[in-house]
Amino acid sequence: MSTHIAAEPGQIAPIVLFPGDPLRAKWIAETFLDDAELYSETRGMLGFTGTWQGHRVSVQGSGMGQPSMAIYATELFTSYDVQTIVRVGSCGALTEKLKVRDIIIANGACTDSGINRVRFHGLDYAPVADFSLLRAAVEASEREPLESSVHVGLLLSSDQFYSTRPELTAPFVQHGALGVEMETSGLYTLAAFHGRRALSICTVSDHIVTGEETTAQEREQTFGDMIRIALQAATA
Ligand code: HPA
Repeated sequence: MSTHIAAEPGQIAPIVLFPGDPLRAKWIAETFLDDAELYSETRGMLGFTGTWQGHRVSVQGSGMGQPSMAIYATELFTSYDVQTIVRVGSCGALTEKLKVRDIIIANGACTDSGINRVRFHGLDYAPVADFSLLRAAVEASEREPLESSVHVGLLLSSDQFYSTRPELTAPFVQHGALGVEMETSGLYTLAAFHGRRALSICTVSDHIVTGEETTAQEREQTFGDMIRIALQAATA
């Protein structure tokens, strides 16, 4: 058992899908995995292990934001020897090049967070995706018949969902950021530190420019496309 996850060693698979919402973890386990079993419900942050096409796979809620995500990612890497984490999340679109329900496979992440400034003594680090996972996810998205368009590009991992300074987003958009969420920069940094693989895939749930939002039913459909890409990439 680790501090925030109540699983015994061996109960968590080497491959973990990592949604922010613990109830999304339950939905993924029930919808996609065979023989899924709950291994932890500490603080309501549900985690399940089952199999997908013969591969052992776990699904663990991360909570929202880099501090919560980092607790679970660190414990998965250090206490359970997890090798591969694929974040499956939602994001806001930052440019009209994207529509709601589009999928972003993040090759890297910018951030407005101070966490990496502390970690790197005020200098800048470039958090990037694991290339083998990135390539496998792109290949899976080309094979799958999908409703939505898939984009490969940068996410902005923000510490504030309700931003007090929205104008600070503009330079990131001018330099290629496609979507805003709250976890990827930290996940890529931790995976690099621990020598493990990580990838972040997000569906666009809301549009920062046009104000468009998805319905719950649309989110579920698009989320399914994203989970199939994530499972194929993680087990490739
Ligand atoms: N901001 C930050 N995180 C998000 C958003 C957003 O607009 N949408 C989904 N996750």
